[in-house]
Amino acid sequence: MANLPAAVHCGVDLQPFNSLAISAKAQYYSKVSDLVTLREMLHWCASEHLPLLLLGGGSNLVFCGDWPGLVLQYADTDIRLVADEGEDLLVRAGAGVEWHRFVLTASQRGWYGIENLALIPGSVGAAPVQNIGAYGVELESVVASVEVVDIQSGALTVLSKADCQFGYRDSVFKQAAKDQYVITAVTFRLAKQFSPVLTYPALIEVLPSTQPTPQQLIDAIIAVRQNKLPDPAVIPNVGSFFKNPVVNGQTAAQLKHQFPDMPMYPAADRCQKLPAAWLIDRAGWRGRSLGPVAMHDRQALVLTNPGRGDGHDVLALAQAVAADVLSMFGVALEMEPQCVGVSDGD
Ligand code: EPU
Repeated sequence: MANLPAAVHCGVDLQPFNSLAISAKAQYYSKVSDLVTLREMLHWCASEHLPLLLLGGGSNLVFCGDWPGLVLQYADTDIRLVADEGEDLLVRAGAGVEWHRFVLTASQRGWYGIENLALIPGSVGAAPVQNIGAYGVELESVVASVEVVDIQSGALTVLSKADCQFGYRDSVFKQAAKDQYVITAVTFRLAKQFSPVLTYPALIEVLPSTQPTPQQLIDAIIAVRQNKLPDPAVIPNVGSFFKNPVVNGQTAAQLKHQFPDMPMYPAADRCQKLPAAWLIDRAGWRGRSLGPVAMHDRQALVLTNPGRGDGHDVLALAQAVAADVLSMFGVALEMEPQCVGVSDGD
């Protein structure tokens, strides 16, 4: 293409950019870190009628084929205290900051509230999309606002927490505003006073005391995660592959009758949340592989790619697991990561 902008690379292999390590090609790839260049890239992409894929840390994507357009990463890595509001502090982080680095930086500077989210792979910009959560804390509890650039108009807007419509592994960015914005920064409401959330039973077991320091809590979270969850840099994975399904009270009662040892957690509207890991484990899939991909032996909800399979291998395993869970328990599993890309067969 004659008028290729300087920031654009052609035919880039995306394997290093997705934590499942799936090999797929981007027709064009660009990493930008300022709003002016971002707007130039969005304008170029629209004028060339190219499909746009926004990439964060690539830890919640399954490439099911190549990307016939532009893959864009926004790499602003600035972290800054923007306001002191008495007990709270407002801290702004660029979308390109690696999430775990942000957790460590915040704790070191005395900004508290995200210790339980240590070691979650991905970037700050991707965190609001699926409202990341772990060990009793969800991102929504600390988000103040999200800065976004409208893909069509290039206008910068600040969305309030309410605008983000957060739900369990869900937000407006996956629903009404899907493909509408580039997230450029997130402002967090963090606390000056450390008040640990210790509701998750396995945490108590590894903590040296019930009044841990912030660093002790972070270390405990890291230990619990490392014990169960594979490091994507060693065994490629995207964390939990399915959401925990929510069933109504009547279905829950029937399941409890049939499977008395099935764990259940109360959810809104008298519903119950079922651990997908338990269902998958009971369906016989923990530690089992299908071709180059497998369900992890220490956490059955994590699909891994030790044999460097492609998106079709991943989906074949996901479908086989979901089919067995459905026939055994009558419960449908919903995938957590997004499928992207186009294969020859599509
Ligand atoms: N279990 C099994 N077999 C297994 C693993 C777990 O039977 O192989 C049972 C456990 O005994 C427990 C239940 O399943 O009763 C729940 O397991 P766990 O506590 O490990 O949590 P989870 O519901 O599987 C969720 C999040 C994780 C988060 C943990 C801790 C989802 C989809 N996953 O997992 O988030 O780290 O809780 O808060 O909500 C992620 O989203 O990528 C992720 C890793």
